[in-house]
Amino acid sequence: MHRPTVVSTVSELRQAVAAAHAAGKRVGLVPTMGALHEGHLSLVRASQAQCALTVVTIYVNPSQFGPGEDYDRYPRTLQADLDALDTCGGESLVFVPRNEEVYPPGYATWVEVGEVAEPWEGQCRPGHFRGVATIVLKLFNMAGADVAYFGQKDYQQVQVIRRMVEDLNVPIEVRICPTVREPDGLAMSSRNAYLGPESRRQALLLWNSLCLADELVRQGCRDASIIREKMRERIESVPDARIDYIALADPDTLRPVDQISGRTLAALAVRIGNTRLIDNRLLELPEKNVARKTQT
Ligand code: PAJ
Repeated sequence: MHRPTVVSTVSELRQAVAAAHAAGKRVGLVPTMGALHEGHLSLVRASQAQCALTVVTIYVNPSQFGPGEDYDRYPRTLQADLDALDTCGGESLVFVPRNEEVYPPGYATWVEVGEVAEPWEGQCRPGHFRGVATIVLKLFNMAGADVAYFGQKDYQQVQVIRRMVEDLNVPIEVRICPTVREPDGLAMSSRNAYLGPESRRQALLLWNSLCLADELVRQGCRDASIIREKMRERIESVPDARIDYIALADPDTLRPVDQISGRTLAALAVRIGNTRLIDNRLLELPEKNVARKTQT
C-alpha cells in the first residue's frame, strides 16, 4: 500500500512529474473536486492499471459554479479522500492547490468551447463549461501528464474536453470510463451526500427513466419524442422532482435526434428538492435490428 504524496504548488507537481518522466514512467491524471467515491476511485484504478504514476487533483473550482449554486456547501473531505486513495494501491501523487495558486490576482484568461458546450448543462448553468474547460486545460498544463481519465457520468463534460483537446492541440490522451452506480442504479455523485432518505429514494427516478428509455428502444420504439414523453411522465410521477432537461441525441455531436436509428445518448438533469442530479445512458439498438439495417 502506498500513502499518496500530497503537494499544493505547481512547481512541486511539475518536479514530481518530470522525475517520473525521466524514469520512463507514463503519467496519468485524474481531475476531481474531491469528496471521493467509488466513481472517482474507478478512474484512479484505471489510471494505475496503465500508468506508473497517477496524479489525482482535488480542487473545488470556483469558476465552474454559477451564482447561487453549491460552491460554498460543496463537500470538502480531504482526510477521508486521502484515506480512500490509500486503498487504491498504486503510486499516486495528490495535487491540492489553493485558490491563489490557480487563479492569482490579475487572472484573465478563459477557454470557451462552442457547439457541444451549448445545450443541456451549458444552457442550465451558464458559464459552467467555461469554468470546466479553463480549469481542465490549466490542470493539463500544470501536470504535463500523458493521459487523463474522465467519467461517462458527466458525458457532456467529456465531449467538451475532447473538443478542446483537439481544437487546441493539447498533447494528452483523453480516456472515458463507465459510470459507477450504487447497487440500486443511482449514479454515484459527490452531490448524493445532500440527499435525505426520501430524496435518495426519489433520486432513483433518473436511472429508472433511463432504463425505461432503453426498454422502449428494445421493444422497437424509434420515435424520440415518444421516449422523451414517457421519461417525463415517469419523472413527473414524483411531485418533488423538477426536470431541467431530457435529451435524446447523437453521442458525438450532442445534436438532438427525432428518430432512433443508431447508438443514441439519453441524458437528463433533474432537481430533487435542492439537489440537482444528472445522469445518462447510451441506448443501443437490439442486435438483429442493426444487422437488418446494414443488410438493406
Ligand atoms: P467531479 O464531479 O469530482 O468528478 C471528477 C471525475 O469523476 C469526472 O471525470 C467525473 O465524470 C467522474 N465521476 C463522477 N462520478 C462518477 C461515477 N459515478 N462514475 C464514474 N466517474 C464518475 O467533474 C468534475 O469533478 C469537475 O468538473 C472537474 C473535471 C474536476 C473540473 O473541475
